[in-house]
Amino acid sequence: NWKIGDLVEEKIRHIKETIGNKKAILALSGGVDSSVAAVLVHRAIGKNLVCVFVDHGLLRKNEREEVERVFKEHFDMNLVVVDARKRFLEKLRGVTDPEKKRKIIGEEFIRVFEEEAKKHDVEFLVQGTIYSDVIESAASGKTTAKIKSHHNVGGLPEKMNLKLVEPLRDLFKDEVRKVGKYLGIPDRIINRHPFPGPGLAVRVLGEVTEEKLEILREADYIFIETLRKHDYYDKVWQAFAVLLPIKSVGVKGDARAYEYVVALRAVNSVEGMTADWSRIPHDILDEAARRITREVKGVGRVVYDITSKPPATIEWE
Ligand code: XMP
Repeated sequence: NWKIGDLVEEKIRHIKETIGNKKAILALSGGVDSSVAAVLVHRAIGKNLVCVFVDHGLLRKNEREEVERVFKEHFDMNLVVVDARKRFLEKLRGVTDPEKKRKIIGEEFIRVFEEEAKKHDVEFLVQGTIYSDVIESAASGKTTAKIKSHHNVGGLPEKMNLKLVEPLRDLFKDEVRKVGKYLGIPDRIINRHPFPGPGLAVRVLGEVTEEKLEILREADYIFIETLRKHDYYDKVWQAFAVLLPIKSVGVKGDARAYEYVVALRAVNSVEGMTADWSRIPHDILDEAARRITREVKGVGRVVYDITSKPPATIEWE
């Protein structure tokens, strides 16, 4: 596609001009936007771009390894992976309120990122802000009631005294995906479902513990794998598992079991503002439920969420 090609080359030229031979830093999540921004800026300034991936311990199964494989090995980028799992888990101990969890994670994220930035002599901060983010933040506080505080890395530039570079600011999501495709980013990243900044912390309802995270990771992985196997992953906007803070009675083998309940959630949506629960074929749900109760230790029951947004939100917290 020659038009996308021209657009990308023009952007690369512009980034080169702006950053010159200085260094830039970017918080890489592995989501579409930060990934495309990273590869674009890497094309312009190479190893002078420092990408920071924070492992806050609230990631999905294999997520960190996948990011390392794509960006370090495939693209040969300057990627720093910060293992901050202990820090986050300690801060979250005993916390059950969803907004408190978000606040703690958002603040700790900024702290970790700032510490990393100080180690490198950076002058620029690259962010994967896209056009809909610009519109949303202009509208927030005015027309839309704030339902949940959404922490990405907002507030970083003011605090850190860095010059902001936002190469995707004028692009819609589908254009960002086209740019990503042109740059050779794998489909798995380009078509990845949205994933909240606070990660699995808002999907382990109530207090977050390593044991619960591990159960959720396995259940979520099985659900997503099952969707992929039946070509359903790309048909839904977002799909995931939630670990409920209750146990329920069941039978496993000959014995009475008393184990956790996992809720599966899948929705169709355009931008996430409203959403309809996905009518996933029963056989697919059945396969996922059977595998989860069989393979994930500690889970005895699986339910499917049939609530749309509104009145529910997409996430459970
Ligand atoms: P809700 O649950 O509000 O979610 O219907 C709408 C979309 O936003 C994602 N989401 C978040 N993203 N930080 C984020 O970066 C957050 O705190 C957060 N909470 C929800 C959610 O996954 C869905 O795609």
